[in-house]
Amino acid sequence: MAGKDKSSHRKGWAQATQLVHEGTRRSQFGETSEAVFLNSGYVYDSAEEAEARFKGEAEGYVYSRYANPTLSMLEDRICALEGAEAARCTASGMAAVAASFLCHLKAGDHVVSGRALFGSCHYIVDELLPRYGIGSTLVDGRDLAAWEEAVQPNTKAFFFETPTNPMLELVDIEAVAKIARKANALTIVDNVFATPLGQRPLPLGADIVVYSATKHIDGQGRCLGGLVLGPSKFIEETLHTYLKHTGPSLSPFNAWVMLKGLETLPLRVARHCKSAARIADFLAAHARVDRVFYPGRTDHPQHALAKKQMADGGPMITFEVKGKKGDAFAVLNAMDLFKISNNLGDAKSLATHPATTTHQRLSPEARAELGIFDNTIRLSIGLEEPADLEADLEQALAAAKS
Ligand SMILES: Cc1ncc(COP(=O)(O)O)c(C=O)c1O
Repeated sequence: MAGKDKSSHRKGWAQATQLVHEGTRRSQFGETSEAVFLNSGYVYDSAEEAEARFKGEAEGYVYSRYANPTLSMLEDRICALEGAEAARCTASGMAAVAASFLCHLKAGDHVVSGRALFGSCHYIVDELLPRYGIGSTLVDGRDLAAWEEAVQPNTKAFFFETPTNPMLELVDIEAVAKIARKANALTIVDNVFATPLGQRPLPLGADIVVYSATKHIDGQGRCLGGLVLGPSKFIEETLHTYLKHTGPSLSPFNAWVMLKGLETLPLRVARHCKSAARIADFLAAHARVDRVFYPGRTDHPQHALAKKQMADGGPMITFEVKGKKGDAFAVLNAMDLFKISNNLGDAKSLATHPATTTHQRLSPEARAELGIFDNTIRLSIGLEEPADLEADLEQALAAAKS
């Protein structure tokens, strides 16, 4: 039985220290690096002990669909980082989003959501929930009055991303959470684009934070994973019961990759964001670029809000190439160091054409409403030398014809 590291609850550790040590459980072998508990079941010393564990009268694991020591380590470590009471891992970011809705909503309830959403989140809010009798209203997340007006007597949850994918619009977490609280609705924030280090929704008033840990928490494009953080009652009762019986469990191996990812997260995120700020300035000054969207730049329409709720400008940049789809494709195809991918949050810099990939299922009108055009390119800035990334963009932009 793995014991919790005695030092793991020492108070006063800085974030970087917590991310290396918090939550560690060592086995009887005293391993330095955390072990991967790659087991599905557990054995008991006696039938009485099995009975007691199942009744919840004795501590201990019973089945890895319910809980596993490697997952517990990841959950405790991310909780320390976010200041959350409790967390649960899921098999992917989408499992985290779906579970955070489905574990507590029922037919007849209503959800208000920011309209600028990752495609699969849009599907859940706009198609899946209504199929089960849960209504939803999509609003411009920047417009506080729109959130207020969308509230109905049966509204049970508010949901949004900030910054949004891909246009990097911001939602005022504190102000929207206040509206939700007044309506007795939970505020659920998808914090993927900011990363856990760049923005802390819980102290700003959000109830639940969800992650695709697939992105910067893994950070090297290896594993899928998701996390849900929030108050103990919601996480350990409502969400846990849902996860236990529906089974979107994270593999212990993937949990171990994410756990080790957290150890280097501050170093990696600092470099991603520093390089992104530099590259955003480079693009803004480029003759073949129309517009740059980066929350850390003073020309971002919500820069003041970025300064209020984000630690930095973030690791993502969106820009418009001068011209049309052909110009954007020419730039993407000419990129060498930047790889064409719909993923993000990798050590490798990635470039996405949202209109034909991540947001392809929206109509051209719906895309235009979100500000996504055929000349829009999204960049996830990696860990390479920024001068090499700029040189790659310089030669790629020369391929734009307009
Ligand atoms: C903002 C956002 N939320 C959720 C997800 C879903 O995460 P996953 O791919 O781990 O299921 C993604 C994936 O790209 C995302 O960008």
